[in-house]
Amino acid sequence: MCVDMHIDRRNLLIRSSVAAIATTIPRIAMASGPTLLRAMPGTAQLAPPEYAPTPVWGYEGTVPGPLLRVSQGQRLRRRLVNQLDQTTTIHWHGIRIDNAMDGVPELTQDSVQPGADFDYDFVVPDAGTYWYHSHERSWEQVARGLYGALVIEEEVPPEFDREVVLLLDDWRLDADASIHESFGALHDWSHAGRIGNWITVNGQGFYRSPVKRNERLRIRLVNAATARVLELAFDGMSGWIIALDGQPLDTPVPAERLRLAPAQRLDLVADIRPDATEALLLSAERDSIAVVAEFPVSGSARSRALPPPQPLPPNPVPDPLLSAPAHTATLRMEGGAMGNLQEAILDGTTMDIRALAERGYVWAMNGIAETPSEPLLSVSAGDTVQIRLVNDTGWPHGMHLHGHHFRRVDGPEPGPLRDTILLDPLESAEIAFVADNPGKWLLHCHMLSHSVSGMKTWLRVS
Ligand code: C2O
Ligand code: CU
Repeated sequence: MCVDMHIDRRNLLIRSSVAAIATTIPRIAMASGPTLLRAMPGTAQLAPPEYAPTPVWGYEGTVPGPLLRVSQGQRLRRRLVNQLDQTTTIHWHGIRIDNAMDGVPELTQDSVQPGADFDYDFVVPDAGTYWYHSHERSWEQVARGLYGALVIEEEVPPEFDREVVLLLDDWRLDADASIHESFGALHDWSHAGRIGNWITVNGQGFYRSPVKRNERLRIRLVNAATARVLELAFDGMSGWIIALDGQPLDTPVPAERLRLAPAQRLDLVADIRPDATEALLLSAERDSIAVVAEFPVSGSARSRALPPPQPLPPNPVPDPLLSAPAHTATLRMEGGAMGNLQEAILDGTTMDIRALAERGYVWAMNGIAETPSEPLLSVSAGDTVQIRLVNDTGWPHGMHLHGHHFRRVDGPEPGPLRDTILLDPLESAEIAFVADNPGKWLLHCHMLSHSVSGMKTWLRVS
């Protein structure tokens, strides 16, 4: 009895000292803060090996930045440390995020000064493929490499053998493989944006990843380019699109030709064909076909292909189809080369197109070139909003809404949920969403040189 009591006491002591250690460890970890995500100069072997590595700016000095993975519903914490000589912020593209964490300078946070830091800390409500990128001078900072993938895992993933996350980018490289310093060229800004001359996958000019016959890949594609609309096709594998911009499709659709505007994502399930000797991801533009990624084939994963994939479970996004819009607005995109914009408002005064161009503005939305001081719409949280996007220009624009996902509702069938929509020249679209996320939310063109030169507005949800 006495001995038993003695043992009990010792156990208690051991347990309490373990408990003491356990409480000190998190305290030490907390003192050192969240994991760092340093925006800093680095190098990347973008061009073939006979070229020198390209000086870039990247998160942790790499292109792409670290692949971030979080389970749906969990919290992501990262401390942005600015080791650049420009101010910067991070935007978590497509995340229905707490507004204070959205990373838009002036609208949602102060810019992070060189040498300073900022803690991003937020819950991720939706599973899917997202990405993060600089939202300051993004037409330069993203083009220099400040982006990475953010994968939010669903509780029950679909069946696949291997996941590949492919961040595609389009670089404008000089003859020595350095980044061409033609940032801010008005000619680019007023046309398609800064179109490059070299496509990379995950920062590599020649991406290769071996596969097996009948192997099932889960492919997460991100267009991280600042201007180029990617036209993609597969060879040697056949697949289904299972999600757009992170949001699952009700029914997977066969993936044939894929068109991906800047910032858009596609989730695919793809099987390597049983007779394939190699599988390829191709960029297939009108006049040229180029290999973007190569999957050399050897061996077999199984004797026959898996059955077609089931749809992914939907995310908890409120459906705009369930209620009539409480607010409507029109957003007319104007300007650009060969456009008919005569004048627009900048600094509160109407200026002609020459005066605008001298100040770096070549586009306007609803007659305003600057980011307007008043929002396009001011709505109450929970209201359904419908916006008519009118592309009154000769150029395509990929329009992105922060903090929400919307459907296109002017087609014969409502479109799938997504956060970025591509509008061809002179095309219009009606988009609808439930504005359930309080804050100030940007709506802008994701051709990033268009965004800075006039294609930005915002909404207030309160
Ligand atoms: Cu991916 Cu406002 O941007
Ligand atoms: Cu645009």
